[in-house]
Amino acid sequence: MASIHLQTAVPGPKSRAIFAARAKAVSNGPFHITPVVAAEASGSVITDVDGNRLLDFAAGIGVANLGHCEPSVVAAVRAQTEKFLHTSINVVAYEGYVRVAERLNARMPGPGPHKTYLANSGAEAVENAVKFARAYTGRQAVIAFTNGYHGRTYMALALTAKAHPYKSGFAPFPAEVYRAPFPDFYRWPGTGEAAAECPGDRAAAAPCGLARCLCREAFEAFAEVARVEIGEQNVAAVVIEPVTGEGGFIPAPPSYLGMLRRWCDEHGVVLIFDEVQTGFGRTGTLFACEQTGVAPDLLALAKGLGNGLPISAVTGRAEILDAVGTGGVGGTYCGNPLACAAALAVMDRFDDPATLAHARTLGDELRRRLADWYGRFPRIGQVRGLGPMRALELVVDRRTKEPDKPAAQALLKYCYEHGVVVLSCGTYGNALRFLPPLTTSVEQLHEGLDVVEAGLVSLG
Ligand SMILES: Cc1ncc(COP(=O)(O)O)c(C=O)c1O
Repeated sequence: MASIHLQTAVPGPKSRAIFAARAKAVSNGPFHITPVVAAEASGSVITDVDGNRLLDFAAGIGVANLGHCEPSVVAAVRAQTEKFLHTSINVVAYEGYVRVAERLNARMPGPGPHKTYLANSGAEAVENAVKFARAYTGRQAVIAFTNGYHGRTYMALALTAKAHPYKSGFAPFPAEVYRAPFPDFYRWPGTGEAAAECPGDRAAAAPCGLARCLCREAFEAFAEVARVEIGEQNVAAVVIEPVTGEGGFIPAPPSYLGMLRRWCDEHGVVLIFDEVQTGFGRTGTLFACEQTGVAPDLLALAKGLGNGLPISAVTGRAEILDAVGTGGVGGTYCGNPLACAAALAVMDRFDDPATLAHARTLGDELRRRLADWYGRFPRIGQVRGLGPMRALELVVDRRTKEPDKPAAQALLKYCYEHGVVVLSCGTYGNALRFLPPLTTSVEQLHEGLDVVEAGLVSLG
């Protein structure tokens, strides 16, 4: 049976009425990708208030990785609601918080011992990772990257690269944040139409050995920022997404990450991977860095950790997590009991190898389908990603790579009008990204991709 079922135009009359009320009652600030209002959601399907069923390839921005209302998560949260909702971990502790920390510590790549700190959102995880790094090193400077997105609080915004719509009008930002170029080889100077993936060995983080090694070029640009603009001895942390999220689903080549790792070791700098979007199976492994052969000192995690409940974490080397004084980090709701119950149920699901095996199957299917589209639609400048975290970038001309944001917006609109929720992304807003729940069936995936393909055809 088809998952998509439309019984009104999308948006339907009830969605439109609620959006009219929203315009009067709600700040203009939060964006809305679709004009659809949800009534309920289960697995990969959202049913709207007009009774339309849409396939969800956004998963609440990479959150519902195990599907909406995953039964074991709902049961765990429901059971916790019968016990207590909140005592604050800072006042009267509870076991769930400790167990989540243990589970994350056990899965953290790299040599231990490891510890964990819990918060509520991805931005908070990043902010706190920077605090831990500064406390540990006694230094101030933080290096982030072009294409980077780390959230909306002030330090997270300072680390974020893109002005519109995130930063414009909100200055000044915290000081001592510097920016190096992300290894985006599609848009790297002097690379051709097809310049895409570094041919280096992904698992071993080995250099490619080519005469012109782009990873080496990117690394030298990074090292120059550190040497000339900051002074290596002043750098507390380097913050990078192993695959950019909002910045366009660009995977950082493992050999480049290996160079960063060695540089951080040499200069006593804390390497932070922001895996807020890439974590919890999104790239086919629990954490994306597992596919790079490079372990960070700290991982910033959120989104899929709670599968819909707000929870985030900083997990990493115990000596760094212990560098802040007692009371130095925290917040009323950090690691709240309901979210911890959800996170433990999520971790159980990821302990079952079938969960990630299916995620990789979806990734293979998506890769094949996108590669086919690249061959058929010249509007697509590049297809890329890692596992089931994939995107296509739309351009006016493959040779000039001029971004085509209007085409991406038109495609996105075509998709929701025909029953598929997808998101755009990228520095130029011209990429369409796929974040289906990792529990989506192969049939559902193709049903949704058929709609996207029809949308590509409709662009002409
Ligand atoms: C890589 C990355 N870091 C941080 C954040 C911020 O997370 P939150 O929106 O939960 O604050 C996001 C959100 O999209 C993200 O993708």
